[in-house]
Amino acid sequence: MKLTLLSTTLTFGLAFSNPHRARGSLTEWAPAGPDDFRGPCPMMNTLANHAFLNHNGKNLTQDVVVGALTQALNFNESVATIMFQQALIANPEPNATFFSLDDLNRHNILEHDASMSRLDAFFGNNHIFNQIVFDTTTVFWTADTLDANMLANGKISRQLQSKAFNPNYTFTSTTEQFSLGEVAAPILIFGDIPSATVNKSLVEFFFQNEKLPVELGWTKQANAISLSDVLRMTQVISNATSLITGSSDASHATKRRDFHFGF
Ligand code: HEM
Ligand code: MG
Repeated sequence: MKLTLLSTTLTFGLAFSNPHRARGSLTEWAPAGPDDFRGPCPMMNTLANHAFLNHNGKNLTQDVVVGALTQALNFNESVATIMFQQALIANPEPNATFFSLDDLNRHNILEHDASMSRLDAFFGNNHIFNQIVFDTTTVFWTADTLDANMLANGKISRQLQSKAFNPNYTFTSTTEQFSLGEVAAPILIFGDIPSATVNKSLVEFFFQNEKLPVELGWTKQANAISLSDVLRMTQVISNATSLITGSSDASHATKRRDFHFGF
């Protein structure tokens, strides 16, 4: 009786704090089986491996996705909902209410060129983790603690490689917004948000194993990740992609232009 009361209280407590079905766990983990879907997103794959998302990677409804992002990673409900809504376009069915991890593989819908850890579609498989590609990114991760500059340098380098060698290289301004979000994501989930830094081993472990780095001591953020956190971190990465150093005010710029063009 006591046990029933306790479990009832716990169940209600959980249901009250999070309206989504509780599922998955930080300690439970199994890779995809032969009939399971996985995609180009290391985090969606990770959440499926931990069964926060359906382990088969199919039928990912708003309830399932928002539940996973809030419970496993401590995104707040509204950011998690926006992410789900943005992903629905990946399902080719009109008025879809769910997507699968396989839908995310459709090239140039959400999946794009110059990924940090996957080949461009032109060169082969655009969704399986690729150690050689990842190595070309991590060359720029030059310290044990990653900052926005190192992450941004890896991103620019991947774009330059693709632009130089992939005749189908495509990267629109919409792609840029998603890409900046992806580069910022490891700091938001595994790092220190105020200083915009993250422990390199946590990020490498996550990419390479598609597993949350609990065994390396990671715990989810204490404060729910908000839209302003996401926007700020995306902006920090965007600023760090600039190849121009220092700052020059407009009057200097004008003077220099006058000098060069003689008027
Ligand atoms: C990449 C979807 C949430 C981390 C991607 C890509 C897709 C995607 C389609 C492939 C882009 C490319 O071609 O590189 C989604 C969806 C999400 C979600 C639908 C939620 C509804 C997250 C979260 C994280 C994350 C919460 C947090 C760590 C990443 C990273 C990449 C990525 C780091 C880049 C992989 C690479 O460049 O190799 N995501 N994502 N994603 N995603 Fe997600
Ligand atoms: Mg890609």
